[in-house]
Amino acid sequence: MNKQVTNISARKDEHLRICLEEDVSSGVPTGFDQVHLNVQTLPEIDFDSIDLSTSIFGKKLNAPILISSMTGGSGKTKLFNQLLGKAANEFNIAMGVGSQRAALVHEGLEDTFAIARKEAPNALLFANIGVAQLNEGFEVADCQRAVEMLEADALIIHLNALQEALQPEGNRNFSHLLRKIKTITSKLPVPVIAKEVGCGINQQTAQWLVEAGVRGIDVAGVGGTSWAAVEMYRQTDPVRKTLCQTYIGWGIPTVQALRGLEGLPENILRISSGGLRNGLDVTKSIALGADLAGFARKLILAANDGYEKLKETIELIILELKVAMFLTGATNLESLRSKLEKEPANTKEIDI
Ligand SMILES: Cc1cc2nc3c(=O)[nH]c(=O)nc-3n(C[C@H](O)[C@H](O)[C@H](O)COP(=O)(O)O)c2cc1C
Repeated sequence: MNKQVTNISARKDEHLRICLEEDVSSGVPTGFDQVHLNVQTLPEIDFDSIDLSTSIFGKKLNAPILISSMTGGSGKTKLFNQLLGKAANEFNIAMGVGSQRAALVHEGLEDTFAIARKEAPNALLFANIGVAQLNEGFEVADCQRAVEMLEADALIIHLNALQEALQPEGNRNFSHLLRKIKTITSKLPVPVIAKEVGCGINQQTAQWLVEAGVRGIDVAGVGGTSWAAVEMYRQTDPVRKTLCQTYIGWGIPTVQALRGLEGLPENILRISSGGLRNGLDVTKSIALGADLAGFARKLILAANDGYEKLKETIELIILELKVAMFLTGATNLESLRSKLEKEPANTKEIDI
């Protein structure tokens, strides 16, 4: 294995270890506590008839939940992709794998990602590369390989300017990337989604990305995992440590970033993520216009405790979502969209 690959794999393992062992939360509120749903004291619906299903890029999901992009690229992370893939299959929810860069520069690592598809033959799966790689020589053919490795339904390009700025080995050349994204979206046969990694996507950038042909935006806002915190734990140099610490709360809180997507065309997939805690945050996300709600660190922590814990965690998120839908009188995800408290009280006439 060449030196570059060994370094990438070692870094992936280190990121994972830090996320499992240290407190890497930003400590910034996501904004969900300030979002209020329209309580319907007498819901007038049957709990058992609530439909959580949705269709995305031609695939039907049982619930609007995404296991956010995290792992792959080393032996240890393969085990996590296996567990997460098994859960995506069992619950018929969406899943993304972590950056496939290591496998694109070394063939022996492909199965650390492909295992997710093996476990979840029919699930909605997202491939993943970093936008900075487009300035390191990655081209459409590399994106195509990432998609094929996973038989992915879409490619996520993650935007991680803060992380690259803080990592000593980071790629800080972020010039001319929109043009390169446009080339990828115009040539790749599957949709491209742009995603942050915990700092949020601002309204202007979202607009630019859509103009460049991106079909989905995952805001991945501030409020949950902070990559500045993760990088802080990796640094030994005190100056670098302080630099990371300064940026732990950097970015746009998840709810604010989600609201920034309101003016985008309706057919753009909106993903709410970054610090989501439970199914109530999922419900609020959908009411705010999201199509999918993603969880990263919460699920890797659960998976670290074994498959049963992961299953229990996802079951609870789904149950929390269903209870919130019941209490707002929403029989399906579409009807949730009118359930924000700012809406006038439901005045629909009911036969009694
Ligand atoms: C262990 C770990 C590895 C991650 N690796 C990636 C990655 O390779 N690509 C990516 O797009 N996001 C990556 N992320 C970021 C997550 O997908 C997500 O955007 C971020 O953690 C915020 O979500 P959370 O607050 O629910 O953790 C990673 C997150 C974790 C915890």
